[in-house]
Amino acid sequence: MSLLVKNGRIITAVDDYRADIFVERDTITLIGQQLKMEADQVVDAQERYVFPGGVDPHTHMDMPFGGTVTADNFETGTRAAAHGGTTTLIDFAIQTKGHSALEGLETWHKKAAGNTAIDYGFHMIITDIEDGRLDDLRTLADEGITSFKLFTAYPGVLYVDDGTIYRVMRRAGEDGTLICMHAENGIVIDEIVKQALQEGRTAPKWHALSRPTLMEAEAVQRVTAIAQQAEAPVYIVHLSSADALEQLVIARNRGVRAFAETCPQYLFLDHSHYEQDGFEGAKYVMSPPIREQWNQEVLWRGLQSGDLQAVATDHCSFRFKDQKTLGKDDFTKIPNGGPGVENRLAMVYTGGVGQGRISLNKFVELISTAAAKLFGLFPKKGTIALGSDADLVIFNPRRKETISVDNPVTHHMNVDYSAYEGFAVEGFPETVISRGKIIVKDCEYVGQKGDGQFLKRGYFSGLD
Ligand code: URP
Ligand code: ZN
Ligand code: ZN
Repeated sequence: MSLLVKNGRIITAVDDYRADIFVERDTITLIGQQLKMEADQVVDAQERYVFPGGVDPHTHMDMPFGGTVTADNFETGTRAAAHGGTTTLIDFAIQTKGHSALEGLETWHKKAAGNTAIDYGFHMIITDIEDGRLDDLRTLADEGITSFKLFTAYPGVLYVDDGTIYRVMRRAGEDGTLICMHAENGIVIDEIVKQALQEGRTAPKWHALSRPTLMEAEAVQRVTAIAQQAEAPVYIVHLSSADALEQLVIARNRGVRAFAETCPQYLFLDHSHYEQDGFEGAKYVMSPPIREQWNQEVLWRGLQSGDLQAVATDHCSFRFKDQKTLGKDDFTKIPNGGPGVENRLAMVYTGGVGQGRISLNKFVELISTAAAKLFGLFPKKGTIALGSDADLVIFNPRRKETISVDNPVTHHMNVDYSAYEGFAVEGFPETVISRGKIIVKDCEYVGQKGDGQFLKRGYFSGLD
């Protein structure tokens, strides 16, 4: 099979030029002006940008959490991702307490294999690990699981203590893998939560009020210090606030190899969503919570300046009608997480490029290239170059859409609300190609379940 993408304006993290792209099977084999090749399929990208497929390094599909299981599984979640221009995602497999991480990996392989629309890899969440099992981390790395997530939040569930963080980071430093940290001080937060409940404060907004930015900043300070001591790189996931960003920058200035992502919910939503009438605020119950609006501009500046490296979604969808309502009378029982896997490119393009905050090249770096580099996928993923996988997004910078659960162009996630209901975007992915196969054509899904393949990722080699 061959494919020719003609007349597009090709944008990578460093390039911006007009050319045609020739694809044989799943790989880009030629890029040039007015190519005259015969191809089985031709896509006309006139007046469109051609971006490398989005890489979303933070999703949760088919994940048991908060007394239920995420609404999106690997089939529905990856199909929605494809609609949004994401062609690779890295999901979180879980090692459960008392079981080996290798068992966790097997479980997640079973959930995903044959079900995905796009390529995928896994990070592994470590919840406990004895010294005798630290070698499992190397075994996992050899299986392509070259990053691990640890939590300073959710005591009794996913939380690990500082000693465990240090031991795992030391091993990661030796092995050449990357530790992802959920940075919130869960121990103090649980005390604040207890106090709130004792005072009868049970509404969704108390979720946010019991997780102050100071407790995120404290955890960023602590885990970056532990990473420095362990001589390991660290990647902060879903960084949400100016206070946390300040600590990240301080650590990096001290020489820590500290990286971080933020997410669209922290760039576009604010605390007022929790103050809505009734139970509406539950839609935005996630950890960290969304913050006071002024944080948004600080995060955008962090993206512009390179203090923040990537925009991921932390897609973790729960239906409003029967899952979020588990916490109707007690905010601590609302499953944490929100949907967004298909909204990332259009939102970041609109708020970033459209509002003049970031360049086109920076946009590509944030939604694709940086994550591909940090997580051992570059240059197979994350760019448009000879030999790279033909993961391409044909993006119409003039197409306007209003994001809504009722808009069949913007909503394919298996969830009954949109976190960005009513947001107007200008710039939208229309055609999406995954390893040379058109999977979304003019906003219609034309792929098949099982098109996606597991990605064995390489070891950590930094961003350069
Ligand atoms: O609330 C969130 N973020 N849910 C997903 C789990 C996590 O901490 O990333
Ligand atoms: Zn997290
Ligand atoms: Zn997450």
